[in-house]
Amino acid sequence: MQELYEKIERAESVEALEAVRVEIFGKKGILAAEFAKMKSVPPEEKKAFAQGLNELKTKLQHTFDEKMATLKRKALEEKMQSEALDVALYDTIAHKGALHPVMETMDRIIDYFVSLNFAIEEGPLVEDDFHNFEALNLPKYHPARDMQDTFYFGDGRLLRTHTSPVQIHTMLRQKPPIRMIAPGAVFRRDYDLTHTPMFHQVEALVVDEEGKVSFAHLKSVLTDFLHYMFGDVAVRFRPSFFPFTEPSAEVDISCIFCEGEGCRVCSHTGWLEVLGCGLVDPNVFHAVGYENVSGYAFGLGVERFAMLLHRIPDLRSLFEGDIRLLEQFA
Ligand code: PHE
Repeated sequence: MQELYEKIERAESVEALEAVRVEIFGKKGILAAEFAKMKSVPPEEKKAFAQGLNELKTKLQHTFDEKMATLKRKALEEKMQSEALDVALYDTIAHKGALHPVMETMDRIIDYFVSLNFAIEEGPLVEDDFHNFEALNLPKYHPARDMQDTFYFGDGRLLRTHTSPVQIHTMLRQKPPIRMIAPGAVFRRDYDLTHTPMFHQVEALVVDEEGKVSFAHLKSVLTDFLHYMFGDVAVRFRPSFFPFTEPSAEVDISCIFCEGEGCRVCSHTGWLEVLGCGLVDPNVFHAVGYENVSGYAFGLGVERFAMLLHRIPDLRSLFEGDIRLLEQFA
C-alpha cells in the first residue's frame, strides 16, 4: 500500500490531488474495493482485516489532508504573486488636478501683497445699500450707480458689485492705520466676451495719519506690482473718476500682445487697462467716522489678469468647467 502514499505525495496541484482522492477514497475507489474484499475473508480474520484497513484509511486521509493544505497554500501564494497590484504605479493617462487659472492668478496677487504686509480681509457677498453704495460716496440717485448693473433682492439687499464694501466693513471694525487687501467674488448683470455675471476682484486699502499716504506711494506700489505680474511693461496712470476716490486714476500697461505697437486686443491703442485706483475720498472717511487720515485704494479684476497672463480670448470659457481648457493649466 506504499504506492497509495506515493500517489498522494506526487500530486502537484489541487486538481491533480482531487483526482487522486477520487481514485483512493471514492465510491468506486481503491479503498472501497479493499473493503469489498471483507466478504471473502474468513470470519475469524474479519476483525483484524477491518482494523488494518481502517488504520490505513485514517493514515491515508491524514497524508491527504496535509498534502491538500500544502498545495492550497502554494496555489494562493502563486495567485497573490500574479495578481499583485502596485498601487504606486503611474497611470500614463491619469488626469492630474490643478488650480483653476483664476485661483492661481488670485494666489499670485495675494502672495505679492501679503509679502508687503497687507492683511487679508473678507466681507459678505450679500450686501446692503449702505456698504455697497452709500458709504462709498454713491448716494441714492447718483448717476454712477448706473455704471454697475446690480442684482437686487428686492428687500434692500443686493449682491455686492465690487469688493469696495470690504473697505467700509474694515474701517468700521478697526482703527487706522489700515493696510489690507480683500479678494473675492463680485456680481454684475453682464454677459459677453469680456463680462460674466460673477467674477473676482482684489481690493486694496491703505490708511494712515493725514499726510502719511500719498498718490506717490500708490503709484510706486502699483508700478512694482504690475512689473511683478506682467514683467517689463510700461505703466501709465490716466485721470479718471470713481465716487469713492479723489483724485482717481485708471492704470494701463503697454499691450503685452503687440508691445505697444497697436493690435486688435488693445484696440490699436498700444495700452491695456488693468485697474482703477485713487486717494480715498474724504466723504468715505466721513461715512466711517475716520478723521485726520489719508489713504489710497485700488481694485482690479482677477479674470482680466488671468486672461492677459494666459492669453485666454473668451472670459466665459473660464466658467464652463471644460476639462480641455483646465488640462492646459495642469
Ligand atoms: N470698485 C471699483 C470697481 O469695481 C474699483 C476701484 C476700487 C477703484 C478702489 C478705485 C479704488 O470698478
